[in-house]
Amino acid sequence: MPDVSPDISRIRSRLLAWYDAHGRSLPWRAGPGAARTEPYRVWLSEVMLQQTTTPHATPYFHAFTQRWPTVSDLAAAPDAEVMAAWAGLGYYARARNLLACARAVAGDHGGVFPDTEAGLLALPGVGAYTAAAVAAIAFGRAANVVDGNVERVMARLFAVETPVPQARPELRRLAGLFVTDHRPGDWAQALMDLGATVCRPRSPLCGQCPVAEDCAGRAGGSPERYPIKTKKADRPQRRGFAWVLFDGQGRVAVETRPDKGLLGGMLGLPTSDWTRDAPSDAPPLAADWREAGTVEHVFTHFGLTLTVRTATGGAPDGRRWMEIEAARAALPTVFAKALDRGVSGMLLI
Ligand code: ADE
Repeated sequence: MPDVSPDISRIRSRLLAWYDAHGRSLPWRAGPGAARTEPYRVWLSEVMLQQTTTPHATPYFHAFTQRWPTVSDLAAAPDAEVMAAWAGLGYYARARNLLACARAVAGDHGGVFPDTEAGLLALPGVGAYTAAAVAAIAFGRAANVVDGNVERVMARLFAVETPVPQARPELRRLAGLFVTDHRPGDWAQALMDLGATVCRPRSPLCGQCPVAEDCAGRAGGSPERYPIKTKKADRPQRRGFAWVLFDGQGRVAVETRPDKGLLGGMLGLPTSDWTRDAPSDAPPLAADWREAGTVEHVFTHFGLTLTVRTATGGAPDGRRWMEIEAARAALPTVFAKALDRGVSGMLLI
């Protein structure tokens, strides 16, 4: 064990001072130490940020808050509009949970978010992380906010040799040592910012770290080793076909996917099953199909190689025509990629 024993209160004061000077300016933040941001904005940003990075989430955050400025506005929105606005953020179960939560706040709490961690946790679709983050950031509660960034910082500061996921309870306990009533929201966000910009997963910038002196991982010489990982089986790969049918007048055949399952209820292109072995390439629609190449997409639990086939003319047969530009904007990313490939395929014929 390296000869550094992290000093909790020194780390706290140095990291908060660093946050005051270097914290990121993000659209859902009121700024370090400033009056707290509206709970709706905090909650919305936290749900989005569980899904993606801050640069990717930012335009979605602006779009949602412009279109639905309050939680009651969001609660009143039709499901399909919210799902379409979410397209590109991935993992649609989160968008469903988002709506369920907005409707509970609007319907059962008069449009006002509960102001305690326990009250937030009781909302539908709000998990431990979101409840803690909103309690700390929006309501100044001393909640232990632990995400992947915080786990990494703790694993490095304390040179935790147990691999994740087994180390998770220990990393949570260590994070809890720093939580106090003093600026809990800023503390949580300071840790996240440090994790995102300095204590990065690969190549951490220890030269810029305000708490490097207290870091046992750094003292051991290889901070990037932490958190230690057990070897994980590679993500499985699946294959499928996407059928991109144009009407020759600027429209493409689209369908609404079944409610249950991956991308449930979203707009889609006609597609085969996505399977490990060769799926059926029987076209779902009669047309003069041509090969337009493949696209790759990575889902949380598998990678997908979609072979795109394209044709012009024929009837959409149970599907509907949609303007290509509108479809491009509304389709989830995997299908938007297939559509782009189909469009380039047609241009080459
Ligand atoms: N990641 C998740 N929530 C965040 C926040 N509030 N600030 C910075 N990064 C985050």
